[in-house]
Amino acid sequence: MSQTARLTVGDTEVELPVVQGSEGERAVDIRHLRERTGLVTLDPGFANTGSCKSAITFVDGERGVLRYRGIPIEQFEQSPNFVEVAWLLIFGRLPNGEEYDRFSQELTANANLDERMKHHFEGFPRSAPPMAILSAMINTLSCFHPEFFELEDSSQLEQAAARLISKVRTLAAYAYRNSRGLPYMYPNPRLPYVLNFLHMMFSLPYQPYEPPDVVRDALNLLLILHADHEQNCSTSTVRMVGSARANLFASCAAGVCALWGPLHGGANVEVLEMLETIHRGHMTPEEYVALAKGKEKKVRLMGFGHRVYKNFDPRATILRRAAERLFTELGVSDPLLDIARRLEEIALEDPYFVDRRLYPNVDFYSGIILRRLGIPTNMFTVVFAIGRLPGWIAHWREQSLDPDRRIARPRQVYVGETGLRYVPPEQRE
Ligand code: CMC
Repeated sequence: MSQTARLTVGDTEVELPVVQGSEGERAVDIRHLRERTGLVTLDPGFANTGSCKSAITFVDGERGVLRYRGIPIEQFEQSPNFVEVAWLLIFGRLPNGEEYDRFSQELTANANLDERMKHHFEGFPRSAPPMAILSAMINTLSCFHPEFFELEDSSQLEQAAARLISKVRTLAAYAYRNSRGLPYMYPNPRLPYVLNFLHMMFSLPYQPYEPPDVVRDALNLLLILHADHEQNCSTSTVRMVGSARANLFASCAAGVCALWGPLHGGANVEVLEMLETIHRGHMTPEEYVALAKGKEKKVRLMGFGHRVYKNFDPRATILRRAAERLFTELGVSDPLLDIARRLEEIALEDPYFVDRRLYPNVDFYSGIILRRLGIPTNMFTVVFAIGRLPGWIAHWREQSLDPDRRIARPRQVYVGETGLRYVPPEQRE
């Protein structure tokens, strides 16, 4: 049954349609509000604004639910296969055998970069942030594939997606190798997606890197858990850039820039730095928590809190289990994991965090896992970007097929000066 909401503005009453989603959430459709009342809505940070209808990912922050195309995230924990999940997100259902093989072959066939692209890496200083390199290189990639500027149909989209998903891993690994002065390792066509990334990162010309299964599985799972999270900051950026009909590569390059921010994907780096500060003895976990909740709020407890999850972040729960599994199977321990557990214990009992409903988020345990995999801290957010890429592509595709799509162009409430006059330079005080 369709519902409406009523809004009274002065003497005028307007009736606004209420849209219902498949999980029961409801939204007031305000698209004609301004033409009927002269009013716009004001919602800093878009915390209460739905920017689109989407069928990709469902998040219920109150109940800690996350589903990809209807499948609960927990169901990917036991048999992680990032490539399968990427296809699921982009095309809306799990691939059949033929679709999976075709997509995997596309990934393998497109892992290499054009040789000329390698010279671009040398133009960056050794200390360049890998996220800056990644964004620049995704844009550069588009210069080598102008055929994908206009995607005509689903099969072309699949080819473009395969190129991006495959090459982003090579770009990431080459950025790392260049920063360390190490020789580039070409992708190995016999290796599947995740093992190939680890090979390009860590093999040496005379010594292939062959990690244990638990390492491969941990990275696979980590990529899956990062693969999409509906209208987060970087995905909304990809949609916004794409709404101007910018091509897939340009839109995803913009997504990388948004993800770089410390309140978004950059938080996994900040978590590790926080844990290291405590570990080096500059502070105890208790002192750090006190600083985070103090009046001046000098720091934030990084890896805690989420705009949507107000109960728990199911990705953090899975990653905590994955971290325990990784350390147990490798037979190692990590003082940073102990510190993280302690911080979590303190925060979960502290009224400051309980009252504000601040719980560990996906970034809280991911850094500890990545560190154990040998990934350097400045590459953490790059790994997040590799994981998030299928989600960005899925949203870019969904938007491009949406009959309701319009260029994203929010309104504002102007609060600046009014009615001033231009003053020539010689008359200014
Ligand atoms: N430590 C201490 N206090 C916090 C924290 C934190 N991590 N997060 C929020 N608060 C406090 C904040 O100071 C505010 O308190 P008050 O009401 O007294 O002013 C209250 O909680 C609400 O915070 P907010 O900034 O209005 O919340 P938000 O929804 O705008 O921000 C957030 C969400 C994730 C940016 C924020 O919780 C945060 O900065 N967390 C730390 C960074 C982090 O872990 N980011 C990763 C997010 S998950 C993955 C991703 O998106 O990439």
